[in-house]
Amino acid sequence: MTASIRTALITGAGQGMGLGVAKRLAASDARVIINDIDPIRAEAAVREVADGGGDARSAVFDITNAEETVAAVEKLERDLGGIDILVNNAGNAGTHAVDQLSFRDMPIEHWQRYLGVNLYGVLHCTKAVLDGMCERRWGRIITISSEAGRVGLDINVSIYGVAKAGAAHLMRHLAREVGPDGVTANTVALGLMDNVPDEFAGPIIKTIPARRLGTPADVGSAVAFLASDEAEWITGQTLAVNGGSFAF
Ligand SMILES: NC(=O)c1ccc[n+]([C@@H]2O[C@H](COP(=O)([O-])OP(=O)(O)OC[C@H]3O[C@@H](n4cnc5c(N)ncnc54)[C@H](O)[C@@H]3O)[C@@H](O)[C@H]2O)c1
Repeated sequence: MTASIRTALITGAGQGMGLGVAKRLAASDARVIINDIDPIRAEAAVREVADGGGDARSAVFDITNAEETVAAVEKLERDLGGIDILVNNAGNAGTHAVDQLSFRDMPIEHWQRYLGVNLYGVLHCTKAVLDGMCERRWGRIITISSEAGRVGLDINVSIYGVAKAGAAHLMRHLAREVGPDGVTANTVALGLMDNVPDEFAGPIIKTIPARRLGTPADVGSAVAFLASDEAEWITGQTLAVNGGSFAF
């Protein structure tokens, strides 16, 4: 990020990878907006970024709700003069605990937990910021996905994977649609990160070439690059940040 101070909206940034992204973008002089559905988490994250010298504020809204998202982004744009970088980070099962169930066992009523935040949330936030970015002729949309959206896995995450694959595919289409307007759209596909339970991570770590789990800082570095002016010729791509798992 070199040319001017950018404003970055990071969804689900109250903890985990999103907070890591917020800290890294703030360290690159972006003004960061920490979205989360949980106000206490959002405020704590704002304090953490500010304690590190960053410029941060919170925006509490539910990205699965289209009207709420559009209204919140309109207010942010009125108050701050435009969102330059959107990081679609909120994910997993949204406000629910992840229930790893096979496709056969997962009740249809649970599908929305995954589709709502990982697919519709991305659609809502992207729709809300895109016109402004195109009008200002500069923008970065970065969607945090997962290996589960790139490959078939036997860990009972099929609906989550479907949602992640859909969101990544939106980035590919958008790259074509809004490239001429100076907006890039990319995906970061994460491998196993350091906030998963030990009993789940334990047997998998030895299969990761880098022999460790990913960290919020790893995600922050990748996102900061894709958000930079230097990455202007990279769009429609998926960058795997996974310690070498699935090397393609
Ligand atoms: N943790 C991993 O191992 C892993 C692996 C691959 C991909 N990912 C992806 O990385 C991203 C970040 O994962 P994480 O593990 O850091 O997340 P997390 O679950 O620790 O945090 C997500 C945050 O999003 C917020 N949130 C949930 N629903 C929301 C909604 N509807 N509106 C606004 N905020 C909402 C939560 O309150 C929470 O603070 C997600 O997209 C996830 O799918 C994670």
